Amino acid sequence: MMKILVINGPNINMLGIREPEIYGKATYSDLVEYVEKAASRLNVEVAFFQSNHEGSMVDAIQEAYGKFDGIVINPAAYTHTSVALLDALKSVGIPSVEVHISDVRQREDFRQVSFVRDACVATIMGKGFDGYVEAMEVLRGKQKES
Ligand code: DQA
Repeated sequence: MMKILVINGPNINMLGIREPEIYGKATYSDLVEYVEKAASRLNVEVAFFQSNHEGSMVDAIQEAYGKFDGIVINPAAYTHTSVALLDALKSVGIPSVEVHISDVRQREDFRQVSFVRDACVATIMGKGFDGYVEAMEVLRGKQKES
C-alpha cells in the first residue's frame, strides 16, 4: 500500500479558531479525520505531522526518506519564506504536492511567492480540506505511472 505523509506547518493546529472566514470552522483534528477517511477509500496509508517549527518540519521530511512514497505538504507561512523546506524536499526526492486551504493567489502580495513549489509535482489551493485529498490522488496517479 502506498504510504503518504501529510505535513502541516505553523498555525494549522489553530484551524477552527484562526480566521474562520478564511480557513473555515473545522479543526485540525477534523482535517485529520477527513483525510484519513479519504485515504482509506483511496487505499492509501496515511500519517500526519504538524509543527509550528521550521526545523522540526525539516526533520520530519528527512525522516520520511525511505519510509514514505509521497508527501502532502501545507507549509503554511513557511511556504513564503523557507529555503530550508525546499532543500529538505529536494534532498529526499520524495514526490510531493503543495497544498493551501485558502486560495493564496487572491491574497496579499507576500503570499505570491512559494519556495517549496520548485520541489513539488503539483500545487493545489483554495479547495479547503479537499485539496489534501486531491493531493493524495495526484501522488497515487504518479506512483501508478512509475
Ligand atoms: C496557508 C496559506 C498561507 O499563506 C498561510 O500563511 C497559512 C495557511 C493555507 O493553507 O491557505 O498559514 O498555507
